[in-house]
Parts: sequence; C-alpha cells; structure tokens
Amino acid sequence: MYQSCIKISENDIEVNDVSALNRLLRQLNPDSLDIGFKNFSDIMQTSTIITLRDTNKDNVLVGMGMLLAIRKLYYSFGSIEEVVVDKSYRGLGLGKAIVKRLVNRGRYLGMKYIALTSSPDKIVANKLYQSIGFKIPRTNLYRFYY
Ligand SMILES: CC(C)(COP(=O)(O)OP(=O)(O)OC[C@H]1O[C@@H](n2cnc3c(N)ncnc32)[C@H](O)[C@@H]1OP(=O)(O)O)[C@@H](O)C(=O)NCCC(=O)NCCS
Repeated sequence: MYQSCIKISENDIEVNDVSALNRLLRQLNPDSLDIGFKNFSDIMQTSTIITLRDTNKDNVLVGMGMLLAIRKLYYSFGSIEEVVVDKSYRGLGLGKAIVKRLVNRGRYLGMKYIALTSSPDKIVANKLYQSIGFKIPRTNLYRFYY
C-alpha cells in the first residue's frame, strides 16, 4: 500500500539532495560512481526525474526514476531509467507508483511509446513492469559497444 507520508514530485532536485540520490543509485548498481548536481540539472532540462520523499522523516529521499525524452523525426518516445526504491521502503507499492507516474508523464507529452530494459534476474522489477502493461517487443535489439 502506497503510504500517505510519501510525497511524489517531478524535477524537484536541489544540490543538497545529491548525496542521497547517489546512495539510492548505489542500491541499483553498487559500482556506480557518484554524480554531481549538474548531471541531474541537465537531465531535468529535457526530461523528467521523479523523486519520492518521506515527509515523516525530514523529506528524506526514498525513491527515484527517470523518463528520458527522445525526439525522432516523426514522433518522440521515452526511455525509463534508474528506477530504484530504498531497501527499507520496498514492497509498499512505491516502485509501481514511480513507474505509473512516468508512464502518465509520457502520455501527457504525446510520446508514442516508452522503452526500458531490465535484466531477467531482476524478478520484482520485471513483475512490476509487466503488471503495468509493458510488453517484450518482437524485435532484434542491437547495440554497438565502445
Ligand atoms: C524494482 C523496485 C523498484 C520495486 O520497487 P517496490 O516499491 O519494492 O515495488 P512495489 O511494491 O511497487 O511492487 C511492484 C510489484 O512487484 C511485486 N513485488 C514486490 N515485492 C516483491 C517480492 N519481494 N517478490 C516478488 N514480487 C514482489 C508486487 O507484488 C508488485 O506487483 P503487484 O502490485 O502487481 O502485485 C525495487 O525492488 C528496487 O529498487 N530494486 C532494486 C533496483 C532495481 O532493480 N531497479 C529496477 C531496475 S530495471
């Protein structure tokens, strides 16, 4: 159950949030390097970062997710990235609330679709995306790695 003490906001990140965001990002990938405020502020210029805060605990950041906007010639689409909920707040519906909010934002922006990738061993994440309606497309996904 999504708790009433949780505040969800869009593009509401300030300099003093950066260390909490880096702590959250390390729960997504323990090897991730710390990033600075400029990276978040650049992304907020063109895209959406959702944050969750616990209003009962000094507005501490307990979750985040991003919707990057990709503009093509005839349409735009979104890419959902960096969805993470703090370990002690999982299983309360917060991850689902973040992704639903990002999907609604993409709809509002007139995006044609939203893409994301999730490793098959992330059982909860895959369950979450599928329960919202994400499908695995029948297409070959190519990447060129540098
Ligand atoms: C994936 C993650 C964001 C989910 O956040 P969450 O707040 O715990 O998820 P929710 O409580 O919203 O639950 C989402 C769905 O997963 C299911 N779920 C939650 N906890 C689960 C568990 N321990 N085992 C199995 N399923 C579980 C829920 O049943 C729910 O589906 P439903 O509402 O249709 O029943 C969170 O686990 C996380 O931060 N994981 C580490 C980072 C990560 O893997 N991010 C995804 C990158 S692609």
